[in-house]
Amino acid sequence: MSTLEAGARRLHVITWGCQMNVYDSARMADVLAPLGYAPAPVPEGADMVILNTCHIRDKAAEKLFSELGRLRRLKERRAADGGRMILAVAGCVAQAEGAEILARAPYVDIVLGPQTYHRLPEMVARAARAGGAVIETDFPAEQKFDFLPDASAPQGITAFLTIQEGCDRFCSFCVVPYTRGAEQSRPAMAVIAEARRLVAQGAREITLLGQNVNAWHGEAPDGGVWGLGRLLRELAELPGLLRLRYTTSHPRDMDDELVTAHRDLPMLMPFLHLPVQSGSDHVLAAMNRRHTAADYLRLAEKLRTARPDLALSSDFIVGHPGETEADFQATLDLVREVDFAQAFSFKYSPRPGTPAAGAPSQLPDAAKEQRLAELQALLRGQQARFNAGCVGLTLPVLFTGRGRHPGQVAGRSPFLQPVHVLGAEDLAGREIPVEIAAALPNSLSGTLTEERARA
Ligand code: 5AD
Ligand code: SF4
Repeated sequence: MSTLEAGARRLHVITWGCQMNVYDSARMADVLAPLGYAPAPVPEGADMVILNTCHIRDKAAEKLFSELGRLRRLKERRAADGGRMILAVAGCVAQAEGAEILARAPYVDIVLGPQTYHRLPEMVARAARAGGAVIETDFPAEQKFDFLPDASAPQGITAFLTIQEGCDRFCSFCVVPYTRGAEQSRPAMAVIAEARRLVAQGAREITLLGQNVNAWHGEAPDGGVWGLGRLLRELAELPGLLRLRYTTSHPRDMDDELVTAHRDLPMLMPFLHLPVQSGSDHVLAAMNRRHTAADYLRLAEKLRTARPDLALSSDFIVGHPGETEADFQATLDLVREVDFAQAFSFKYSPRPGTPAAGAPSQLPDAAKEQRLAELQALLRGQQARFNAGCVGLTLPVLFTGRGRHPGQVAGRSPFLQPVHVLGAEDLAGREIPVEIAAALPNSLSGTLTEERARA
């Protein structure tokens, strides 16, 4: 396939799941740009549709096949109009269910796992030529980041940057080590170069991404290896960058250098997503988390000593195989002890091929449902109290654009809360102190103070 005039073909990408998938979708669009593919807002009439899937929870396969049914009709309509729509399934469901997808949905042209995006142009060429399906779900020896072009589309004021992928931790319930493969860290210089480009394109906040981001251990410019704490120190020097964040972390990979970075770098935002999953040592052991509830509490304490205003966020799973009522109570105890600013909580859902899925002591859905409701009520209360505690404070807000209502501007607090302020001025890209006047369950509102901080 020859290089085409930019925008000659229309590409629609549907993204499910995490920020990593959002990032991957943008990179797939980047690799296809030289083939003439430009983003299209709707799948109707597109020359290529990529469905970037997520396998972490929910009924991933059912959701996929129902969406594919819809896309099949669009593909047929396009063919009836004399065109051709290439249909690709990417992401973790593609990795996990590759052959099954082609068996059940033979109209799919390309199935590609997360480690093969850099080969997409070649797959598109093969699919276009042969008309048969192409499947690429190996974990290639080469690292995809070495073969991807530099990100082209600007991400805006708050940008995401993937620094590591995959995971070697093998938590009992999790598909990531199987769908994303072994842990791979990008070299420090590649990360810094990408961060520089993002800032040049207007980014003022960068969130470093990875399935287990604090396991990052990238090749350093001096030939050694850096950890995440060291990398953050380096990124904090970038002129124009105001804020840094990273997600998602494992408690066991939180080393002292990283804790110290929270003490020393004011621009490392005081909000940390640090999943604990359970507060019961028995369940934590069954989950293969390799830490106890007391380890987590100690770590939270250490982090809060390093950065006293640090707000913690977490993920929880209720109803992991073998979880007793006492185990669940231990989770509630841990939540009360830590006091989270916000959290995500889920019912355990068996993922085929993971150890927990085959465990004998699966819980009935009703028990999971009840525990989830109880845990969420507790977490909601903590979040509401945390938000209410912000009222009366003056918080620096990084403005990103207009709010939903006319005359409103919107941004984020250091704790990632959306903040709305009345004002007609275009404040996008500026970090300005805001007096917080009111708290809603998921956001804050306030007024601009006299002082105008860093532009
Ligand atoms: N069932 C329920 N929740 C899960 N998570 C991961 N796998 C499962 C599963 N099988 C949750 C974990 C993880 C978050 C991203 O999703 O809490 O931290
Ligand atoms: Fe999955 Fe995170 Fe555990 Fe890795 S550390 S296996 S990504 S839950």
